[in-house]
This record gives sequence, C-alpha cells and structure tokens, in this order.
Amino acid sequence: MLKTFIKAVPISDAIARIGRSIVIKGWIYRKRSSGGKAFAVIRDVSGLIQCTVDKAKVTEGEWNAMDSAYLESSVIIRGIPRKDERAPGGVEIETEELRVVHSGEQFPITEYQSAEFLMDVRHLWLRSQKMVNVMKARAYIFKYARDFLNKKGFFEISPPLITRAGGETGASMFEVQYFDQKAYLTESSQLYAEAMVPSLEKVYSFAPSYRAEKSRTTKHLTEYWHLEPEAAYYDLKRLMQLEEKLVTSIADKLSKEEELMKSFEIGKDVLQKVRPPFKKITYEKAMEIIQQKGSQKKWGDDFGVEEEKLLTEEEDKPIFIYAWPRELKPFYAPVNPKDERTVMAVDMQAPHGHGEITGGSEREWRLDALMARMEEVEKAQGIKFDKQKYAWWIDLRKYGSVPHAGFGMGMERVIKWLLNLDHIRDAIAFPRLINRVEP
Ligand code: 4AD
Ligand code: MG
Repeated sequence: MLKTFIKAVPISDAIARIGRSIVIKGWIYRKRSSGGKAFAVIRDVSGLIQCTVDKAKVTEGEWNAMDSAYLESSVIIRGIPRKDERAPGGVEIETEELRVVHSGEQFPITEYQSAEFLMDVRHLWLRSQKMVNVMKARAYIFKYARDFLNKKGFFEISPPLITRAGGETGASMFEVQYFDQKAYLTESSQLYAEAMVPSLEKVYSFAPSYRAEKSRTTKHLTEYWHLEPEAAYYDLKRLMQLEEKLVTSIADKLSKEEELMKSFEIGKDVLQKVRPPFKKITYEKAMEIIQQKGSQKKWGDDFGVEEEKLLTEEEDKPIFIYAWPRELKPFYAPVNPKDERTVMAVDMQAPHGHGEITGGSEREWRLDALMARMEEVEKAQGIKFDKQKYAWWIDLRKYGSVPHAGFGMGMERVIKWLLNLDHIRDAIAFPRLINRVEP
C-alpha cells in the first residue's frame, strides 16, 4: 500500500515527467467510470490532472475504493504521465497503484448552488478552483506589499487590536468588554503607527481593522486587512508617490504570475496599464466632474458608490482625490494652508468603480493646531472626544514632534479590484459581513 508520508510531486510537474512513474497526492475533483475504466480528475494546490484507472490493472480493493470514493476524497496515486490529446491539459496519468486516504461522506456542494449556501459551507467552498486561485493571488499580493515596503526601509510593526482610542469617528467601533472596562476593536492602527514614527521613522502595520458600519455593499467587510504605512517627514506629495509606487509594484508583480492570472478574466495588459503617475485631482475638481456628468452632489457632500463610478469608470488606473473639505475628514488631518476650506488628506480610487482603496493624510503634528482641530470636529459632528483616551497620542506632539504622513489601504478592496471580483467577500477566506460571523 502507498505509504501516507511517501514523497510526492506537484501535479503541475507531471507534464515534465512523461513516461516516468510518479506519485501525486490530492483530492478527487471529478470522477466518472465506464466499462471497467474510471477517470478521476485529481487536484492539488498546483493544478488538476486526469488519472485513468483500469480495473484490470489495479487490485480489486483499489478499484472498489476508487469506485465508491466520494468527490473531494483525499487520494495518493502512483502512475505514469502520458500525453493524451483528449485529456484536459493534454496529459493524463495511467494509474499503477492508488490509495483512497479518506472518503468519508458525500460532499455537499454540487454544481448549481446559491451564493448563500456557498457562504454557509465556506469552509468547504474554499476548495473550489475559484477560491483556490483567489487565495493564492491574495497571498502573493500580501507578499508583494510587504516586499515593497521592506525594500523601501519601512519596519513592520505590530499594533494592539484592542484599544480605547478610535482612529476615525469612534462611532463605528465594536465594543469589547475588557474585564471591568469598555474597550474597542481597533478601526485603524494609525495612532499606534504614529507613536512608533519617532523610534523607527518609517513603519507599517499590517493587521485587521474592524468597522461596525451597517453597510450592506459589495465592498464593505466588518473585519478587513489594513496595511498602514506611516513615515516621518513625508508630506502629501511624497505620500502619493509612495502609494502609486506600491500599487504599481503589486499590479506589476501580479501580472507576471501568468499561469495564475489565466484563471481570471483580467488580462496581463490590464494590470500593466497600472503605471505612475496616477491622475491627481482636488475634491473640488472631482465635484465639478461629477456635476458635469449630472450628479446633484454639492460641496461638502461625501462621494458614494454612484460618484465613485462617475469618477473612475473610464480610468485604467487609480486616481487620487486630495484637499478634502475639513468637515469630511478626521481630526488628525491638518488644514490646507493654500485653501483653508480643506485638509491635507488624500484618497485613492480604484478604476472602473471598484471604490476607495486608500485613505491617508498628513498628520497635524503641532499641539495647538491639533487641539483646535479636535475642537472643530467636536463641534461639527456634535461629539465629545474623551481626551483621556487620546492623552498618550496627544503627548506625541509634546516631545520632538515632526511632520509626518501615512495612509491605510484596504487589502480586500485592492484584491477585489485587481482580480475584478464582483464582491469583496470573495477576497477573504472567511468574510465577516453585517449578517455573517460564521463559519
Ligand atoms: O479611509 P479609512 O477609514 O482611513 C483610515 O482608517 C486611516 N486611519 C488610515 C490611515 O491613514 N492609516 O480606511 C482606509 C482604507 C479605505 O480606503 C478602504 O480601502 C479600507 O481601508 N476600508 C475598508 N475595507 C473593507 N471594508 C470596510 N468596511 C472598509 N473601511 C475602510
Ligand atoms: Mg476613507
């Protein structure tokens, strides 16, 4: 019998080993049999291959095991790869020996299933070719992002995810009972990244952020992976350059994963159009553009799905929108000296209406100006900051404060855009949505 821990080769290597006996380990993806022959398509992480099993050439036990095995049974097969025009991929394995490691129960996912059912059995649906490919691309995209920042001299930091100070509005945070205190799941690690700037100068945190927003859209998760670089002596201009280089680097490296990208409808040429410089327009200009296209929005309104679409549907690469009305951006964004109606904040919008992928700003680093800005936001939004909770962060402005800037990138938004997915839920293995915390 084939040993459990016998060495195997990736299925994708079979083509290079025509005529030589190999062992593969995988799962039954498809299966049919007729007249003493079984045809099983086996999948592993590297690909799919058809294995033919001839009843006359294997033992009765082996034949029966394969014949009765359910889809998704785990198997080990020893056999000889042969060229065969009729086989998917042009190669098939002539089975010499096989072992069904585990068959278990009938796999519950069949061909036509509702999206809701597939979400219920997400733990099993992750084996589908679609999810396998997305999860591979996701892992690559995470790696490319880290590689880029590491190479630029940024240090990865690990912020706390349980916090008392909210980064954005504080209104959309999940509350945590922290022994006898109230705490929150972080909605951004920015404040902690800022605290590490005087020690490491250029840092990034790569961690989940939580948003208790009741947004039922195709681009909102309640838990998402947030990449947040923060750097000393960066202004808005330098920040935008960093952002466009980061995004370009990710798109370019992904475009070179040719085998993987074949499984997505988005082509190499589409990804390679993502090149600096990206268009940079002010909020005011963006407002003019959408008004010309018929939008009823006016100065001071935020952009929603409709406006994002108007702004980016004809773009091939992301665009920046900067100089936002002060009332639309958080307390840490400093007033723009060239246009006091606005703050030094910038968003990046993905093309084709995929929506905002980054939000960033210069940070108010002067104590007096910060206190004034916080007061202004309190008045405008009718909220009261608990200054005690922010005391440590305000403290940073008292000792060797320096101008700095940073941004946050929603990784699932980036994945959704780059792979042209319909819904953000497919950019993460176990999505947390307004109506779903399981599996
Ligand atoms: O624009 P946001 O709220 O900005 C911040 O949190 C800043 N403190 C980040 C920083 O400067 N360090 O969020 C940043 C990005 C958005 O542009 C979007 O890509 C993503 O986070 N994002 C979400 N992604 C998925 N689901 C949600 N509910 C998201 N909310 C924001
Ligand atoms: Mg934002």
